[in-house]
Amino acid sequence: MNVAQKTVAVTGAGNGIGRTLTLHLLDKGARVACIDKDEEGLHETEMEAGSLAVRFSCHALDITENKAIPALINQILHNHGCIDGLINNAGVIQPFTTVKDIEMKDIERVMNINFYGTVNMTRAFLPHLLTRKEAHIVNVCSIGGFVPVP
Ligand SMILES: NC(=O)c1ccc[n+]([C@@H]2O[C@H](COP(=O)([O-])OP(=O)(O)OC[C@H]3O[C@@H](n4cnc5c(N)ncnc54)[C@H](O)[C@@H]3O)[C@@H](O)[C@H]2O)c1
Repeated sequence: MNVAQKTVAVTGAGNGIGRTLTLHLLDKGARVACIDKDEEGLHETEMEAGSLAVRFSCHALDITENKAIPALINQILHNHGCIDGLINNAGVIQPFTTVKDIEMKDIERVMNINFYGTVNMTRAFLPHLLTRKEAHIVNVCSIGGFVPVP
């Protein structure tokens, strides 16, 4: 996809890979809807975007809050008019330990954010993306998905 003039929603855009993706997309002429639960991080991304931030919007949201996602989509549509792509990047790295030693609350946290957060966002955005002539969903994962550790 040539991203110029397209609107891409990026989760986890308040830091790390999501911030870098946002800056690259803006650089290539895209409009970017930045989503993160860390509002301060989003503003730092906006600062780094400098003059390109005219094509940028900030959306403070926890992707595990499924009920809040429809309002997010309306907000993005209000700001940008359409959505052409979703990059599911927000996620957390679990403590590196064995199944015997990991606590259930840690497993639930990782599953709620990395798995269900991605499922929530994808299911909510998909009906709109399917109305576009061309649209993409990108899921950022981990080498751990290909080469799992015990
Ligand atoms: N950096 C690596 O080496 C590496 C390795 C394997 C996988 N990953 C995956 O790549 C993605 C990005 O990693 P990163 O290194 O940039 O991480 P990071 O911690 O620097 O940034 C992740 C961002 O996601 C946001 N976030 C976390 N939970 C959220 C939630 N529930 N709702 C909304 N936002 C949330 C955080 O606030 C943060 O701004 C993650 O999914 C991570 O698991 C990264």
